[in-house]
Amino acid sequence: MRDTIEAIYGQESPVAGQNQRYDESLAAFQHLYGPGPVSLFRAPGRVNLIGEHTDYNEGYVLPAAIDRDVLLLARPRDDAQVRVVNIEEEYEPREFAISTEIPPRPLGDWANYIQGPAQLLARQKSEPLRGMDALVCGRAPWGVPRGAGLASSSALTVSASLALMRLNSIPLSYGVSLAAFCSRAEWYVGTRGGVMDQFTAILSQRDHALFIDCRRRASGYRYSHVPLPEGHVIVLVDSGERHQNAGPLYNQRVVETRLAIQLLKARYPWVSYLRDMEEIPWEECHHFLPEQITKDEVEHQGISLQKLMDGGTLPEAESFFVRKRCRHVMTENHRVLAVVEAMQEGDLARVGELMVESHASARDDYEISTPLLDRIVEAINEHPDVVGARLTGAGWGGCVVALARAEAVDDLFAHVSTLQQESDGQSVEAFVTFPAPGAGHLATINI
Ligand code: GLA
Repeated sequence: MRDTIEAIYGQESPVAGQNQRYDESLAAFQHLYGPGPVSLFRAPGRVNLIGEHTDYNEGYVLPAAIDRDVLLLARPRDDAQVRVVNIEEEYEPREFAISTEIPPRPLGDWANYIQGPAQLLARQKSEPLRGMDALVCGRAPWGVPRGAGLASSSALTVSASLALMRLNSIPLSYGVSLAAFCSRAEWYVGTRGGVMDQFTAILSQRDHALFIDCRRRASGYRYSHVPLPEGHVIVLVDSGERHQNAGPLYNQRVVETRLAIQLLKARYPWVSYLRDMEEIPWEECHHFLPEQITKDEVEHQGISLQKLMDGGTLPEAESFFVRKRCRHVMTENHRVLAVVEAMQEGDLARVGELMVESHASARDDYEISTPLLDRIVEAINEHPDVVGARLTGAGWGGCVVALARAEAVDDLFAHVSTLQQESDGQSVEAFVTFPAPGAGHLATINI
C-alpha cells in the first residue's frame, strides 16, 4: 500500500499524511463492518484550465485531475443491498437496494451519486447484482472540497462505479467506455452535464493536463495528455462561496444552448450541437439568434423545453439569453485549441491572455461568475508571476484557477490573503494542486 500511495500522490504531497488517512479509513471500515476483505478505490476531483460549459456542446476542454480525491472502501454482500457510510458525520448513512428503478433522493443528497451508477449498471446487466458495504472518505485536507467547482460529485460517482463493477466481477477497461458510463450515471441526479469531469477523473496522468474533444466519433473520443509548462504550478483559490441552486442554473445554461441550436436550424439545418458551428464566423450567424427569448415565444415557435431537457430537471426561467450563451461556447472552443497550441509552443503570454478572455466571456456572456470571483481573478492576474487566472468549473461560486511560476507561490499566497478582508465574510483559501493520475482500484486486503 505504501508504494501505491507514493506512486499516486508523489513527493509533493506529504506521504505521511496520506498514509495516516488510509490507515484511519481502514480502521473506521473495520469498526463499522468487522474483519474480512476490503477493496480500496479512489477517484480524483478536477480543475479546468480552460473550456467552460463547452463539454455538453460537444466542444473542447483542458482540465487536469487534482491531488485531492474520494476514497471508497467496499466489501461485497450476498444480497442487493448497498449500505454506505460517510466518514464525515454531517452526511448521514444511507441504504438502498440495487434495481433498475431506484427512487432518487432529494436534490443534493450525497447517496444519489452512488444510486445513479447502481441503477444504470442494473439496467445494463441482465443478471442480479451484488450490493456492498462501503465507507466514503473525502474529508479535508485530502478530499475534494464540496461545491467548489472541483467535481467532487463526479469523484464519488466514479469511485462508486469502480467498486460496483469490480465487486460484481464486471471487467473494467478504465478507459473511455467507463468514463462514458459514469457521465451518463450522473444524469440520475437530474442535471444534464457533459463528459469532462468523469473523463478527467478516469483518464488523467500525473503532471499533465488532459485535452478532450467531447465529440464522440465512431472511433471513440479524441484526447491527449498535455504537459504543464516547466517551472509552473496550478494554484487554486477557493472563494468559499457556495451556490445552493447551482443544479437548476446549470440546466438553464444547457437548455439555452439547446434552444440556440433549434433556432440556428432554420438557417443551418445540419446543426445538432454548437460544435457544428465551429467553421461559421460569428458575424455571419449571430443574426439568427435573438438576444433574449421568452418561454411563451419558445412555445409559440413549437419548441418543447421539456423535450430539449431530455428527462433532466426543467429550469424555472421565464426567458433565455441564447445569443450571448452561444457566443461564449463558440469563442471558448477556439480559445481551448489556441491554449493547447500556445502551451506546446511555450508561448505563456498567449496562454495568459486566453485565460483572461475566457473569464471575461464566462462573466459577461455565460453569466456564471460572481463579484467575489471577479475580484479574485483581477487581483491574481495583476501578480507578475501569474500566467493567467479565471474561474473554474460550473461557476456561481467555487474556485479560481491560476497558472503561476512555482517560485512565486508564497508571494502569491500572501497576495491572496489580502483579499480575505474584501470577501464579505467568506473564507478565501489558496493552495497548490499537482495533476494526479486517474481513478482506480488500489488494492484488496484483509483486515
Ligand atoms: C460541471 C459539469 C461539467 C461541465 C462544467 C462546466 O462541472 O459537470 O460537465 O459542464 O460544469 O464546464
